[in-house]
Amino acid sequence: MEGLDSYKHLNHKCASGEHSTQLLQAQAHIWNHIFSFIKSMTLKSAIQLGIPDIIQKHGHPMTLSELTSALPIHPTKAPSVYRLMRILVHSGFLEQNKLSEMDKEEGYILTDASQLLLKDHPFSMTQFLMFALNPVSTKPCQYLSTWFQNDDPTPFHTAHGMTFWEYTNQEPTLANFLNDAMASDSRLVASVVIKECKGVFEGLESLVDVWGGTGTMAKAIVGAFPQIDCTVLDLPHVVADLEGSKNLKYAGGDMFEAIPPADAILLKFIIHDWSDEESVKILKRCKEAITSNDKIGKVIIIDMTTENQKGDEESIETQLFFDMLMMMLVNGKERNEKEWGQLFFDAGFSDYKITPILGVRSLIEVYP
Ligand SMILES: C[S@@+](CC[C@H](N)C(=O)[O-])C[C@H]1O[C@@H](n2cnc3c(N)ncnc32)[C@H](O)[C@@H]1O
Repeated sequence: MEGLDSYKHLNHKCASGEHSTQLLQAQAHIWNHIFSFIKSMTLKSAIQLGIPDIIQKHGHPMTLSELTSALPIHPTKAPSVYRLMRILVHSGFLEQNKLSEMDKEEGYILTDASQLLLKDHPFSMTQFLMFALNPVSTKPCQYLSTWFQNDDPTPFHTAHGMTFWEYTNQEPTLANFLNDAMASDSRLVASVVIKECKGVFEGLESLVDVWGGTGTMAKAIVGAFPQIDCTVLDLPHVVADLEGSKNLKYAGGDMFEAIPPADAILLKFIIHDWSDEESVKILKRCKEAITSNDKIGKVIIIDMTTENQKGDEESIETQLFFDMLMMMLVNGKERNEKEWGQLFFDAGFSDYKITPILGVRSLIEVYP
């Protein structure tokens, strides 16, 4: 049914009252999706204005007027602050508590999510937010349909005329946001892995963190397991000024060329950056680098395993978002268990074990 005919059809349905509720719900559903970016952008402005840190520093529930006077804003914008706060409360980043038992007045307090948005929190996600919501990172979204119609490798390439890694090599600002974001994520992941998955590191004497960034994960591993000698392999400019320690070394190089030998190879948030073909190449290099012939030798992967969340809508949506982000920035993808298994088989590994212990991510051990 086309044009006027379909309009008449809907009009008839509405007039008869038959589907008016569904029609209005459909319209609201579309509006909600059209304006989803407002969620991200209000969060970004809250971080840029320092709202979580100001509330934290206050030390007890902070009233709207107290917050308004503490914010670095122009006085003419004061009447608009409550609107920003209202959407932050709605999105679960703030709660409102009574100032005291006797008091009717309420003040804002942080939630678990906004604790992670404090600038000095060891697991702070502010740098990840600044990386992901940077105009350089969001511009490729405007080119998604164009990319579907051309032969560019990624929408990032269509938007910026070069690959993501070429761009970060030239533009330290984005690379710094990414490195800081990854360091913060590694502190969080390391704290969980060291607490919950000690057995994964048992018997290891050496480990290479391939594309380990600035070495946060490796530092945590050698701190908890001093018998392990760790090497962090990353691009020469990333590790150039970094200093190692007794059992932590930095190596600059391209892992497509060579990976230093070790009992175990760690790949955290790496394979999802690459296509199947490139991932198999990386995994083959890792297999060659494993020195231990007994049961100890392995590749340890920290990445998402999709389609394994039971009933957790937000986690499923987060994984779908990450998958689209990987497609737009770097020609990577998030994978389900079958796709992971195929990669391991194609790279010549004999077995693997997936432990879904890291929220939307899993720890995967892959055996030669
Ligand atoms: C998404 S980050 C992951 C960092 C780290 N594994 C983590 O989770 O914190 C990807 C890393 O790969 C590095 N990288 C990209 N291309 C590389 C290459 N060809 N050789 C070595 N490192 C590379 C980047 O410098 C960056 O540190």
